[in-house]
Amino acid sequence: MRGLLTGLAACCVYATTFCLLGTARGADLATASPPSAKITFDLDKGHAVTETLWGIFFEEIQHAGDGGLYAELIQDRQFGGLAYSLGLFHTDAVQIEVPLTYYLNDYLPLSSAVVQRTPSAPEANLTGIRRWRQEHTLPEYSLKGQPKSWFPVGGAELTLVKQQPITFGQPSSTAYIKVSTGSKGGGLSNSGYWGVPVQDKQEYQLSVILQSESADLANQAPQITVQLESQDRQTVYASAAIEDISASLRHLKLMLASNGTDPNAQLTLFVHGKADLAIRMLSLFPAENVKGEVLQPFRTDILQYLKDLKPRYVRMPGGCYVEGVSLDDAYWWKPSAGPIQDRPGHYNGPWHYWSTDGMGAFEYFQLAEALDAEPLWVINNGISHTYSVPAEQIWPLVQDALDLIEFVSGPVESEWGSLRAKMGHPKPWQLNYFAIGNEDCGKPWYVENYIAFFAAIRARYPHMRLISNCDMDPHAPTDLWDWHMYTDSQNMFDRRHDFDNVPNIKDTQIFASEYAVFDDPAGRPIEFPGNLKAAIAEAGFMTGMERNSLQVAMAAFAPLLSHWNDRACPHNMIIFNNHQVFGTTSYYVQKLFSEFQGVRYIETTVSTPEHDPRDHGIAASATCQDEGCTQLAFKIVNFASEAQQVDVEVLGLHSSPDMMTVHLLNSTDGQAENSFAEPYMVVPHRQEVRFNGPASSVSLPPFSLTVTTLDLSRQPSMSISQA
Ligand SMILES: *[C@@H]1O[C@H](CO)[C@@H](O)[C@H](O)[C@H]1NC(C)=O
Ligand SMILES: *[C@@H]1O[C@H](CO)[C@@H](O)[C@H](O)[C@H]1NC(C)=O
Ligand SMILES: *[C@@H]1O[C@H](CO)[C@@H](O)[C@H](O)[C@H]1NC(C)=O
Repeated sequence: MRGLLTGLAACCVYATTFCLLGTARGADLATASPPSAKITFDLDKGHAVTETLWGIFFEEIQHAGDGGLYAELIQDRQFGGLAYSLGLFHTDAVQIEVPLTYYLNDYLPLSSAVVQRTPSAPEANLTGIRRWRQEHTLPEYSLKGQPKSWFPVGGAELTLVKQQPITFGQPSSTAYIKVSTGSKGGGLSNSGYWGVPVQDKQEYQLSVILQSESADLANQAPQITVQLESQDRQTVYASAAIEDISASLRHLKLMLASNGTDPNAQLTLFVHGKADLAIRMLSLFPAENVKGEVLQPFRTDILQYLKDLKPRYVRMPGGCYVEGVSLDDAYWWKPSAGPIQDRPGHYNGPWHYWSTDGMGAFEYFQLAEALDAEPLWVINNGISHTYSVPAEQIWPLVQDALDLIEFVSGPVESEWGSLRAKMGHPKPWQLNYFAIGNEDCGKPWYVENYIAFFAAIRARYPHMRLISNCDMDPHAPTDLWDWHMYTDSQNMFDRRHDFDNVPNIKDTQIFASEYAVFDDPAGRPIEFPGNLKAAIAEAGFMTGMERNSLQVAMAAFAPLLSHWNDRACPHNMIIFNNHQVFGTTSYYVQKLFSEFQGVRYIETTVSTPEHDPRDHGIAASATCQDEGCTQLAFKIVNFASEAQQVDVEVLGLHSSPDMMTVHLLNSTDGQAENSFAEPYMVVPHRQEVRFNGPASSVSLPPFSLTVTTLDLSRQPSMSISQA
């Protein structure tokens, strides 16, 4: 039986082109007056809801982290992306220098730069590099998801120099930038991720690592100014001097207070007069993120949207992000831990942009903690999109996974636990969920490698719930298996019965960790960022997961976050740019289900009338919010484009309050969606209405999710007057 469910969707693969969808309405239904369905809720029947049911899936896709939730305002703060786009990142050469005028002026801009993958070092001259790059053109390796980062200002000559990391010895190489100026001075600018957003009266902390390379430093200490300014350099919002430059590396921090608001500003470092400077990092965070000892790395407005979802768990950090196109560009946790200036960063192969690894292993667990959610870590078990590590060579990666678990949850005295403590979190985090691979079922060596990870982790951490990519039965043991689905709205709605016949086997539960409506019925991607019809279809599907919430132990919509300027997937939950954020209609569906997850499922049946037994697009489920079933939540979905009448009956109701609360998410337009301009156009509206007793006829608006709550602990007014 479970074999029927093994179909896995691929990672979201849509290009950045979007076709506009004509208004697709559901088929006209018979006139609304006779009831389309009868819904029965039976309070005496049901089962527990798995506590972890509704969670979120955070992946570094569409600049969800870098340029998104991660509050860093400077793009490519350590020049790793620039080095990568020039093909220097992976070379074995100790030092290579490339004048940046070449990159900046007349050759490939960063947004379309092509990257080399061979380890051979390019020659350090323009002719050589240009030819070498032409020979190594691999179009899929472009940084197409990323805007340009660094620009020269004034008469500065910028040179990118490859180097080893500063202190925390990781094997990858990174780079620094040399600023050489003549008597007129000059410098460099960074316009962030599609603009540095500055706000009037807000403070920003600049963190810079630099040294002078001037021969005559004693007589000629360079005068350096950093400023936040408009991109035409005509308006200055904040300015400060950098002093104490020396011939040895200095890590300086200073505050910049803006006296203007500009979502499209830039940061400029300007050297007055003749100098040679080496800059290894330029980082800028809003003051609110750097208040304490430990960086609070999250953008507060986006974080609030996540908090409001009240997720029970966070699956992280991917997704395809974990796999990589090749193992070279997969996510590895060790280079993403330790001080930020020592993280080399890496190319995010599946999603085509540079990852600074600012969102690293530590920060992901900070996120789960900030959300008060169970962390669920996904590890690469030796499988990328193009290559699999054979099982006989898998042990180093198993050890890497064990090290990660020690880093997260080991004692302060342990090797990796001590790094966590040094980073500012001596208290171990509790890690109870661990996924082995992402969408790798069926790939060479998946099952063999899975067994090696499973055995090693189970032996050391028997409490850990381990998650496979396949329904393993009968090949191997697993606790949960990971199920993904991207489809069109009709199919999403229709598949609400998919889990009805899954046997309830205690140790093999389903983790529906990625699902969303992506297509129209013709298989074309829907219009970014989503729409109400898609959201209502997902609500229908979610009633099925709630009904089967013993077998389906965890579920999450995907993708969670998308930058407005980097769209890999057509339909998303939360959309942001560098200073604004809004939730799509799917966000509000997720939020309602999460708020009313409850602890016990109330048996719900939806039956169609005998004279017209078609599927009328009605779905429903209900839960008790507390063990005593004094708070009830009934969810009814109308997926049709018109209003429908349904008969509703609640069996086993022993008391009858006067009033009920109705949360209604709806619009007559299935294409309706929120936007930056109208972020609350389609959101749930809450209303107190009279409760008409356990049997009633209810009118459901077109494309609607109705969540009705009944508070049985509230005494009806009659009994109050008797008292
Ligand atoms: C630059 O590289 C080309 C191609 O490898 C080589 O032929 C040429 O001699 C190099 N020029 C210098 C000045 O090193
Ligand atoms: C804003 O601050 C900058 C830098 O200190 C200063 O040059 C500028 O005159 C100020 N602008 C206003 C309107 O106060
Ligand atoms: C939602 O349904 C209610 C009740 O039918 C209706 O009054 C309201 O106008 C609908 N909202 C939208 C946005 O269509």
